[in-house]
Amino acid sequence: MRCRHRRSAGVDKSRETKPMARLSITELKAMKERGEKIPMLTAYDYPTARLVEAAGVPVILVGDSLGMVVLGYDSTIPVTMEDMIHHGRAVVRGTERAIVVVDMPFMSYQVSTEDALRNAGRLMKETGANAVKLEGGDSVAETVRRLTAAGIPVMGHLGLTPQSVNQLGGYRMQGKTPAAAVKLINDAVALERAGAFAIVLEAVPAYVAKMVTDKIGVPTIGIGAGPYCDGQVQVINDFLGMYPDFLPRHARRFADLAPVIDGAVRTYIDLVKDGSFPGAKESFGLEKAKKAIGGCESVVPYGGGASIARAN
Ligand code: KIV
Repeated sequence: MRCRHRRSAGVDKSRETKPMARLSITELKAMKERGEKIPMLTAYDYPTARLVEAAGVPVILVGDSLGMVVLGYDSTIPVTMEDMIHHGRAVVRGTERAIVVVDMPFMSYQVSTEDALRNAGRLMKETGANAVKLEGGDSVAETVRRLTAAGIPVMGHLGLTPQSVNQLGGYRMQGKTPAAAVKLINDAVALERAGAFAIVLEAVPAYVAKMVTDKIGVPTIGIGAGPYCDGQVQVINDFLGMYPDFLPRHARRFADLAPVIDGAVRTYIDLVKDGSFPGAKESFGLEKAKKAIGGCESVVPYGGGASIARAN
């Protein structure tokens, strides 16, 4: 059997990145200065991280959205440090070049700055990630300052901050009133001053996102924040069409995998049931087995493994 590890991701080789040094967060600021857009995607596991990196995405977010799109919770609130470490590690193992950012889960940074330092340190040490992300503006600026002073790069997150869904009264657009827009801009400035290297803007009006983007020197990464941000982020499961019945307003399906998976699984069921899978190509010693059981062409009945073992 061949080992799957480090096999080609099976994608367009012309776009595959050569093994080289990992990108650094300073490169993202340089991209903003050059007016070069920054594409970011989430990934939660090793094979997806490999594919996303091989296609050329420079920043991969192990978002706590994993609670909703991978673990089946109805919010990001139940996500634990252990969940983020488990998935963060897998993503880091699947990458060589991309900047990997891991979300700090709900209540891992709000209790105290010491707690935030300890938890951010764990995420960095135990996953090998390059940065952490946390939600909030001025209220978390001191925490961001302490983390960055300790050498932990921090990505901010403003606008719709899903960990505050109970406070916000649902997954609603933020920054709509003039007062809310001004607060959002001030929060972005506070995060930049505290040392954040980039800021996600989620579900805010495009003109507010543009004002923030023009105001601050670090890149803004939008999701439902219009086209004027320095970069864009999408949740990979929405992006790939894994949820046939639901697509958030801010998401676009760049592929439609749900029907592809459904078709593949149905075909598999049919072929297993009619005995045509596995065939000769997927079996070992099938000819010997057939001879041993009297040249029978049809399905080896369940429990027939012992005679096959003998035949081999
Ligand atoms: O958790 C996540 O995936 C995120 C993105 C939506 C930015 O925070």
